Amino acid sequence: MNKDVIIACDFSTQEQTLTFLDKFQDVKPFVKIGMELFYACGPDFVKTIKSRGHKIFLDLKLHDIPNTVKKTMHVLSMLDVDMCNVHAAGGIEMMKYAIEGLTRPDGTRPLLIAVTQLTSTSEDMLHNELLIGNTMNDTIVHYAKNAKNAGLDGVVCSPLEAGEIKMQVENDFLTITPGIRFEDSKKDDQVRITTPALAREFGSDFIVVGRPITMADDPVAAYKKCCQEFIHKL
Ligand code: C5P
Repeated sequence: MNKDVIIACDFSTQEQTLTFLDKFQDVKPFVKIGMELFYACGPDFVKTIKSRGHKIFLDLKLHDIPNTVKKTMHVLSMLDVDMCNVHAAGGIEMMKYAIEGLTRPDGTRPLLIAVTQLTSTSEDMLHNELLIGNTMNDTIVHYAKNAKNAGLDGVVCSPLEAGEIKMQVENDFLTITPGIRFEDSKKDDQVRITTPALAREFGSDFIVVGRPITMADDPVAAYKKCCQEFIHKL
């Protein structure tokens, strides 16, 4: 699996998104479409971006009963995206059904990734609100193992957790890591941040980068800088 930089297109309108993507002339970055853009602009807009030559990570984080997730994944499989995700908290059976739904009649399917614990969940919340007695680290590793057992391809995690997950699950199990900042850029609301170069060292397979690229004075130059640091290309 080749490493890649995924740009988080956290916009709420088609106009903003296309104005941003139009800046990229000689290269077509892998992009992440999240709930905001999907619910605002709909499935046809996903097809529009795909037809412009971008790979797409559709970040909708499905979490429901197995049958509903399977049927929804079947619908998403027809959008021809490259990566989808679910919450590992939905359980092994739900994740297995997700794969079934996502698999197209010709046997191909997008990559399927699990969210283990959201980075907005603190250790305190885990124990006192969700009543999960294990540590955050043990919970994340256990959920990652469940995802692997269900046949998923990887997890979303912090670059700081990527090495441990690969060691405890499997080296080829993909780690998709947000929380990326350049040495000299603002942290925004991210807490545990890593540069693209360090994410590479920690073993991330894909970095997800939003504001350091979307809010940069020169987004194309910022994207290329990410690629140079993370995949030594462009
Ligand atoms: O702008 P920034 O680089 O912080 O954007 C990171 C992207 O990754 C956002 O779309 C955010 O929702 C997503 N994300 C995250 N942390 C997670 C999962 C997803 O920052 N644990």
